[in-house]
Amino acid sequence: MRIGILTAGGDCPGINAAIRGVGKTAIVRYGMKIAGISDGFIGMITKEYTELTEKDLSGILTLGGTILGTSREKPFKGSGKGNKDIRKPVLIKEHYEQMGLNCLVCIGGNGTLKTANLLAQEGLNVVGIPKTIDNDVWGTDITFGFDSAVNIATEAIDRLHSTANSHKRIMIIEVMGHNAGWIALYSGIAGGGDVILIPEIPYKEEKIAEYLLQRSEDNKPYSIVVVAEGVVNPGKDKSVAQYLSNRITEMTGLETRETVLGYIQRGGTPSPMDRVLATRYGTAAADMIAERDFGKMVALKDDRIVSVPLEDVAGRLKLVEPDNPLVLQTKSMGTSFGE
Ligand code: F6P
Repeated sequence: MRIGILTAGGDCPGINAAIRGVGKTAIVRYGMKIAGISDGFIGMITKEYTELTEKDLSGILTLGGTILGTSREKPFKGSGKGNKDIRKPVLIKEHYEQMGLNCLVCIGGNGTLKTANLLAQEGLNVVGIPKTIDNDVWGTDITFGFDSAVNIATEAIDRLHSTANSHKRIMIIEVMGHNAGWIALYSGIAGGGDVILIPEIPYKEEKIAEYLLQRSEDNKPYSIVVVAEGVVNPGKDKSVAQYLSNRITEMTGLETRETVLGYIQRGGTPSPMDRVLATRYGTAAADMIAERDFGKMVALKDDRIVSVPLEDVAGRLKLVEPDNPLVLQTKSMGTSFGE
């Protein structure tokens, strides 16, 4: 068999570990051939790819980013019937045939898995592997990239503690997560944030101000606010951290500073946990291909690898439920979610 591998959407630590996992297993265990597709779905549209040997897959386990390149190309989006662009999917199908592929492995987050499902509906053999630092893919307990991002965000929060304490300031740190607050929740807990703001739990500015003033009155000289980028931002032209920083100063008179962590969360070498998870997903994806178990995504459920239909995953998000036990436990320790 000959399989194509592509990586699409925002990059994250662990993608190369997954490419290595699927590629090495496919070559070593099953004697398959591998085509590495360039820059996500763009490579399928332009037919740009390279043959990958086992040697090409050596030494990439610890590398950040993706050796294949990525893009946010959405081939089904555009004009055409039902607001779908039909030309690009036709090209993808043609190139899939011309490249002699028996399966296309799509490594990506929600957008990628949605496209993967549409390609499966068009008759292509597709296997999905979930990756994103946001951890918001439905159908799996965890995506790789998330653990690395939480480690990076937690280290940043740890470092903010000492400078916040020295200056007796309110430190606001904005982490990624445009729909889901998983990074803010986990790094907020791990870093001992006093206020954690996530898109799934609407906040009130006055409640945050009240809470921070109370801490100040209780002789707690500084506070840490961890905020996900996707919470409501009335500041529009400012980052939400900047907006909240200004508002908190206005409302409390306390000195504030903001940090927007940004793409640092997505870069660099994957954590050991992400290396292991990405390797597990990769090897399982190769097994699925050998079994011709197509139209599915590899997933983790209760620490076991399973496969879930792409049509169940497509268009759904795994968000933090407001009554998630972690949220409730954190609240019971006195942490504020701005409510
Ligand atoms: O990968 C998910 C994510 O990190 C989001 O949290 C963030 O909003 C988005 O990607 C931004 O990525 P880009 O600028 O690459 O589109």
